[in-house]
This record gives sequence, C-alpha cells and structure tokens, in this order.
Amino acid sequence: MDIKALIDREPIGEKVTIKGWVRTFRSNRFIALNDGSTVKNLQAVVDFEQQPEDLLRRITTGACLALTGTIAESQGRGQNIDLMVEQIEVLGDASAEAYPLQPKKHSLEFLREIAHLRPRTQTFGAVFRIRHALQFAIHKYFNDNGFFMVHTPIITGSDAEGAGEMFRVTTLDPKQPPKTEEGEVNWKEDFFGKETNLTVSGQLEGELFALGLGKIYTFGPTFRAENSNTTRHLAEFWMIEPEVAFNDLFDNMELAEDCLKYVIRYVLEHCEDDLNFLAERQQNEEKGLAQDKRSIPLMDKLRSVVDNEFVRCSYTEAIEILRNSKPNKKKKFQYVIDEWGADLQSEHERYLVEKHFGKPVILYDYPAKIKAFYMRLNDDGKTVRAMDILFPGIGEIVGGSQREERYDVLKQKVEEFGIEEESMWWYLETRKFGTCVHSGFGLGFERLISFVTGMGNVRDVIPFPRTPKNAEF
Ligand code: 4AD
Ligand code: MG
Repeated sequence: MDIKALIDREPIGEKVTIKGWVRTFRSNRFIALNDGSTVKNLQAVVDFEQQPEDLLRRITTGACLALTGTIAESQGRGQNIDLMVEQIEVLGDASAEAYPLQPKKHSLEFLREIAHLRPRTQTFGAVFRIRHALQFAIHKYFNDNGFFMVHTPIITGSDAEGAGEMFRVTTLDPKQPPKTEEGEVNWKEDFFGKETNLTVSGQLEGELFALGLGKIYTFGPTFRAENSNTTRHLAEFWMIEPEVAFNDLFDNMELAEDCLKYVIRYVLEHCEDDLNFLAERQQNEEKGLAQDKRSIPLMDKLRSVVDNEFVRCSYTEAIEILRNSKPNKKKKFQYVIDEWGADLQSEHERYLVEKHFGKPVILYDYPAKIKAFYMRLNDDGKTVRAMDILFPGIGEIVGGSQREERYDVLKQKVEEFGIEEESMWWYLETRKFGTCVHSGFGLGFERLISFVTGMGNVRDVIPFPRTPKNAEF
C-alpha cells in the first residue's frame, strides 16, 4: 500500500510496511515520511526507548526507510492516522551534513541546480503529479471526442514554422565534413542523404493524417534553438497539436477553448490536494507584497477560466485598443504600438488579457507578414486566418490557424517565404489531391502546466529543462 491509499482508507489496526523518504524527524519521535504518492506525509511515531540510538541517528532528512508497524488514530492535529512504528529498516542513508535538501525553504533557482533531487520536494512532487494528470486528461479529451493520436517524426527535413531556429541532426564529423566541388558541406553524404533537423512542430505531418483520418492530434517533444532566456521559453518543450478536416477558424477556436476548459476542470476535480498545496505556496510567496502586486489566488484564477467564455477579438480591433491604451499613450510599453502590422509583444498580450478584458482572449486574423506561410489568406489579401489564445500571467498559450488549402496560393506563399520547394513537395501535393478546409492549433504543454500550477517559470514544470547554455542532468 502507498501513503495515498493509507490516508484515503485509514485502515486502523492494520499492520503495514511503508517505504519512503524522510521529510523531517523531530523530537526523536515523529517521522514525516513521503513516498511520492501524495503531497501529504505519513506521520510515523517512534518509541525511541525501544530503538537503538545508532539507528535513530540515521533517520535524517532524505534518508530512505522501510517502516513496519500498525495504523492508529492520530492523537495529534493535522492528520487522521499515525503509523505506530515497530521496526525500522534504513534502506539508504542521507548524510545530514551533505544532503542539500534540508527542511527549510529553498529557492527555485537553487533547486534547478539540483534538478536530480528536486523531485523529492513537496513543490515538485505536486507539480509533476499535476503534469501527469494534465497529460492524461489531454489524451482522454481527444480520445473521448473521436480523435486519433499520430506519432509525427522527431527528425525532419522541413522547417514547419519557417523561422529557421532548428537544431541540426547529423553524423558528419564537424572537424572534417565532406565538401562539394564548390567547397560547401556535402549533406548528400550525411546519414539521411540530406539536411535534417529536430522538429519544431508536428503540424505539417499532422495535416497529412487529418486529410485521411479526419480528426487527429500529436503530443510530442519539439525543439527550438531560439536564444530566448525568458520564463516562458524552452529549447525542448512538449506540444499538443490537434488538426481537424472541415474545421474553419471559428470551429478551431471552439475546440481549443473546450479542450482547455476540460483539462483544467479535470485537474480541479482530480488534483485537489496538490492544487491546495500550490495555492498556499503562492500565497506564502506573495505575503510581503502589496495587494495590487499579488497574483489572483490560484483556484480563483483556474475557476475563472473554466467559467468564463473566452473573448474573440480581431488583431485589427486589438491594435485599436492598444493604440488608445494608457500605457501606450504614456509610452509605458517598451514597444509602443503606432501602426497596424506591428507584432504584438508579451506586454501587449498581457495588457489585453489582464487589464482590458480581464479574461482569456482569442486574437485572430493577424497580418500575413508576421505569421507562418501555411495560414489561409483572407480575401483582404493582407490578413491570415490565424488565432492565438492569450492567458492571464502567461500570454500566448495556444497558436493555431485555418490552413491554406488552395494549391496556387500555398505554392506562391512557399516561394514568397523563400522556402525550398524540394523540402515541401509532399505537403503541397495534398492540396492537389482532395484538398479541403482544415484547421488546427498548438498548445504549449509547459505553458499550460505553468498556468495551472502557478509556477512562474516553465523551467520548473518540465523534469529536465533545456535552455541556452543549460543541458545538465
Ligand atoms: O505558436 P507556435 O509556434 O505554433 C506552432 O508551432 C504551430 N505549428 C501549431 C499548430 O498550429 N499546430 O507554438 C505553439 C505553442 C505556443 O502558443 C506556445 O504555447 C508553445 O507552443 N511554445 C513554446 N513553449 C515553450 N517554449 C518555447 N520555446 C515555445 N515556443 C512555442
Ligand atoms: Mg505562436
């Protein structure tokens, strides 16, 4: 039995053996033991007169123990049951001097430096149990709605987003690569006989399957070599990308809104203990701050997303709102908005969500120039059927679009964007044979977890963050 089952069932009088790690040991009597099954600890009560002193000395924070004893009603406050310990076995010592995780507050920055041990903390236990629940809810949502999961490739020969921020995959010797007659690296001699990279998105391959299976989604790792050192960017992150034949942009918005609400509701229903712990953690973190500097309490924030309809607002309307906004007029924005066509920065996105509308916003119909080549061109000839979903505290959490399904228009876009046609022939060909209206989006998994857990940095919601100059562990 694990500690979660014990706490749920309260089997008073039953004899059990529980294995876990010591969180604290106080008064030579009370061990708080945790096995990862729940954020709650089991209180184990030791009769120190019955136990040899050298054994008691080995019960230190971080040590791994097997405790055998009987479950009794707790005499203390804070828990319903205690384990009355009869036998203690030390499975793994943790030297009190050397163990870096002491029962005190450690900064998240420090914990990132010991990412091999941070799963043992209450905070990371809660975050990663929620990460698990969210990914389960995502699969459940799509499965229950008739979607098929497609495993799109991790190694690709195309640049889906056309941003060129890719990690190269090669087996060539960097010191002596084979050269062409012109003196360039001869990629024909590389493993795949061409240039290949780690994927930035499974979308293009996902589209091929949507144009056969109807409703599909991918959920895989994606890689971006953008040199952004922010709290929202990772070089390796996970993305959920549904793609649906016959959906237009507004169907796409509805799907994304419904999916986000479903998975957040799922976590509210299934992860109460972990969410409560994280909500309390957030409150403690912000204790010293003035009222207007504090974030919305975690549970209120999650419920407001589940209960409110997301705003739909066109890019053009958004530009008007921003242009007339106080921070724009007073030049408080780092990037002042004065012209239609400007790319929105996270400060603008957050103004719209947090100050102007006060709820999630779906922005759509962006200028073609600032979006990817595959988005469907509107009749005005200057905007595309793109949509971004903006969340409080996060900014962009979803990016999606209706896809350009017209062969001639798509071919022209490929040329305009300077994309090599040889790397895209198969994508273009789907527009020649049985093409149709279709749409999809990408949901950044770490941004979603960051929103749900209230953790301010995506590095703290992925087990092993990869960021510029950082691939330890
Ligand atoms: O807006 P993006 O670049 O869209 C695409 O990749 C499309 N192919 C998706 C599609 O239509 N199928 O990325 C989608 C989402 C963003 O909204 C953001 O949540 C997340 O992926 N994202 C990142 N998350 C963490 N670190 C990064 N470097 C990210 N880049 C994007
Ligand atoms: Mg985007």
